[in-house]
Amino acid sequence: MKRASMLSLGSLLALALILSLGFLLSVWASSPAQEAPAQAWAGHEYQRFRFVSEGQRKGIAAADRQLLKMTEDRMLLIDNGSLEDAVKYYGEVAKRFPNFPQKDFLKSGLADVLTYFGYTPLKAGDLQRLDPEILMNYGELLKNVSNPNDFRGFAPIAKDELLVTRFFAPKIISVKVLPAKEFGWRKVVWLKARRGSSAEKDKVDSFLLLFNFASTDPKFPTGKAAGQIQSMITPRYENPPNNHLSAYFLVYNALTGQCPEADRNGNVVVKPCTPGQIGFHLTASFDANDLPQANYFVPDACAQCHGTSGTGEKKAKVNYLDTDHWYDRVRPPDGDFKQVAQKDVLVGGGSQALRVIYKLNERIRAQNQAVDPDSFQLRATAKWLDLHQDCRNESPNCTDKSWLPTYRGFKKPGSELVWTPGNEVDEKLLPRLNQACFRCHSSFSYHVFEKATVAGKKDTIADYVGYGFMPPDRKLDDATKKAIVDLVKKLP
Ligand code: HEC
Ligand code: HEC
Repeated sequence: MKRASMLSLGSLLALALILSLGFLLSVWASSPAQEAPAQAWAGHEYQRFRFVSEGQRKGIAAADRQLLKMTEDRMLLIDNGSLEDAVKYYGEVAKRFPNFPQKDFLKSGLADVLTYFGYTPLKAGDLQRLDPEILMNYGELLKNVSNPNDFRGFAPIAKDELLVTRFFAPKIISVKVLPAKEFGWRKVVWLKARRGSSAEKDKVDSFLLLFNFASTDPKFPTGKAAGQIQSMITPRYENPPNNHLSAYFLVYNALTGQCPEADRNGNVVVKPCTPGQIGFHLTASFDANDLPQANYFVPDACAQCHGTSGTGEKKAKVNYLDTDHWYDRVRPPDGDFKQVAQKDVLVGGGSQALRVIYKLNERIRAQNQAVDPDSFQLRATAKWLDLHQDCRNESPNCTDKSWLPTYRGFKKPGSELVWTPGNEVDEKLLPRLNQACFRCHSSFSYHVFEKATVAGKKDTIADYVGYGFMPPDRKLDDATKKAIVDLVKKLP
């Protein structure tokens, strides 16, 4: 969209045509530059956003800080956090982990966290490299780790202490230019604090690792290292509450020891860094991927998509894993990434992988329930579990199946409205919202599978889509825009 035409729409509907929240296949850096990215995109067509200034930042209460916010003049204000705040945040984290093995938390790394949780011999590199099926089978694990001797005398890892899954991740792939030239997969590793571990003493419950793998082929890039490593740590949720924040956000340097970092002009410089050491920010581009890259710092850049704000004192959520959506994205008619084979969504894992994801989503439901029982995120997770009950308790009847969108709707409390199979409007509208909006509006603001909420926003949605302000990460053709606008207006 050209600037002039945007301005002529004026304040009528001046929602920022922004960038996406999608952190595209980017990489963590270790020694961040502090300057807010500035001039590089001054002349760019996407100018409906700006970075928060120091002054504006001071006016926002620490607990309310979030990655993206609408300003009064309807620009999108990006708060990418700062090195100073990240350092301060890690200080707060360290205070709540008194038995953490490395006294200088800012010099700690993945090996220290693994020790803290009771997994000393286990190497981050092996967690990254080995297939989920091997990692979750202790006999196989011992045969395949790089350091079998270190496991002598180590208590075998029990079944539910280490859960791992790997999946095609449409949320980290650009949809700006399709067909895509780069694809992404993610691996989630969930480690429970072991009995007798220091983490257990500190009332810390779980360590979650997220490896992001990029590939130019539409296939999982076996053997390739993750470009970036994200992490969350969750505490025990107790009554009365202990002194923990609701969850913690951390990032770690790539195990390759190569850490990209954006300079003030948005140029990415790759610098040597200590592999696996704690990092402060992610270096990302927006979905509008001709924009320059910038550094996004913990915890501000993480909080919003994980259901909270600020340092995540309350309501920080582990996000559920929506296999049905991943399958939609590779399937005709509306899949954006049809080059990816269905069997590569769970990387050949089939129903065994689905049984593991069932367990993970059960844990995620419990976590969401503990921190935010009235949230749409919890309702979405519960719905997924309901649809995939055949995978409960590792049932042999578990099938690696996916449900079509209209079967996946859920109710908002107090309303009976729900997306319904066979309803003409629902059948046409929901797949479009699923394709164009789910990427963002399933983890923040609202969830497009909650029909009552969508119906409640129908005028705004019709306006934003009609004028091309939403979605911000791709341009819809006129026929698609018109279809969404006409259909959404038919909602009750
Ligand atoms: C654009 C939204 C977004 C942002 C920003 C974001 N996340 Fe996530 N994150 C997700 C989603 C969605 C998932 C679930 C996996 C998927 O769908 O690909 C996820 C998954 C994770 C997981 C695996 C556990 C889980 O929640 O399923 C970790 C760990 C994680 N993110 C850490 C971080 C950290 C640390 C940051 C900040 C540096 C961050 N995330 C920023 C959306 C986001
Ligand atoms: C790449 C991320 C992204 C995608 C995709 C996206 N949005 Fe948004 N949307 C945002 C952001 C960022 C905001 C503003 C921040 C906020 O309100 O939380 C927003 C705000 C909105 C709002 C106003 C806020 C509210 O809760 O009422 C509506 C309505 C909306 N979007 C509709 C849509 C629709 C419809 C689609 C799909 C056709 C869509 N968006 C796709 C990122 C996205």
